[in-house]
Amino acid sequence: MTKRKKQKLFKLSKIIIIIIFLMLILGGYIIIEKNLEFVLNGKQDYSIYLNSEYIEAGYEAKLFNIDLNKYVEVDNKLNSQKLGEYQIIYTLKFIFCEKIRYRNIKVIEEEKKTVEITEPKLKSDYPPINGYENAVLGPKYIDGILIVNKTYAIPQDFKSPDAQIASTALKQLQAAALLDGFNIDLVSGYRSYARQKNIYENNVANRGYDETDKYSARPGHSEHQTGLAFDVGSVTYTYGETPSGQWLNKNCAKYGFIIRYPQGKEHITGYGYEPWHIRYVGIDIATEIMEKEITLEEYFNLV
Ligand code: DAL
Ligand code: ZN
Repeated sequence: MTKRKKQKLFKLSKIIIIIIFLMLILGGYIIIEKNLEFVLNGKQDYSIYLNSEYIEAGYEAKLFNIDLNKYVEVDNKLNSQKLGEYQIIYTLKFIFCEKIRYRNIKVIEEEKKTVEITEPKLKSDYPPINGYENAVLGPKYIDGILIVNKTYAIPQDFKSPDAQIASTALKQLQAAALLDGFNIDLVSGYRSYARQKNIYENNVANRGYDETDKYSARPGHSEHQTGLAFDVGSVTYTYGETPSGQWLNKNCAKYGFIIRYPQGKEHITGYGYEPWHIRYVGIDIATEIMEKEITLEEYFNLV
């Protein structure tokens, strides 16, 4: 073979290799693109009331049953403190493929439904599922501490004598946080029975009982109706990982508060992790609960 022929052959094989390589890439791309599954859990359109919690239902990204959730970026500019229409954008980027999903959230004014104030009911308006019983019990105090959970409720016109103390303690906590450089704003404090009923029933209309009961209390069963609980900082699951959320976790007990719904205790509290929801119980009990990493139910042996 002449030198020229050899050079030509070499060039040709180089081109063939490049073509095969490109075809492999293209084939791989087509296979991945065809088999990428990316779906949003829950509904695509939600409406929530102004200043109420939006709890993200999440998504599932998979390729041949391999979990790709970590490749999803979420752009969430929802501001539940401002009326309007928002879009949450979920982008799955995997190798060369990109898939985008959208969720539309409307923040709406609460309808002014009138709730008749009647005698405390012994029977719930809702089905006895997801940790709730048919009969509504309460108010329940143990050692002077009010217990409000899925078992124990408070009547519609309940007023806690400690609400003012809790509110002052919150201001002290916020002032101390500010000195350390953290602005821990109040997002949601006292909520009346009527307001909680609206919020809960709106959530049920959006997601059904099973999902709603994981994060939204039924009217009479919300600590927000006591005036002793506050949502602060940011109502997002990742808040607990932020410096501000970590400050809150570390220091809330000094002001008499506990993180009421800790991570990993969902089976005890009946609710998902809420790094933003603090409950006033007084400094001594709060310190013991936070140090031992337990819940109010465990502290009082209610489990
Ligand atoms: N998110 C808490 C459980 C409430 O609705 O009171
Ligand atoms: Zn809360």
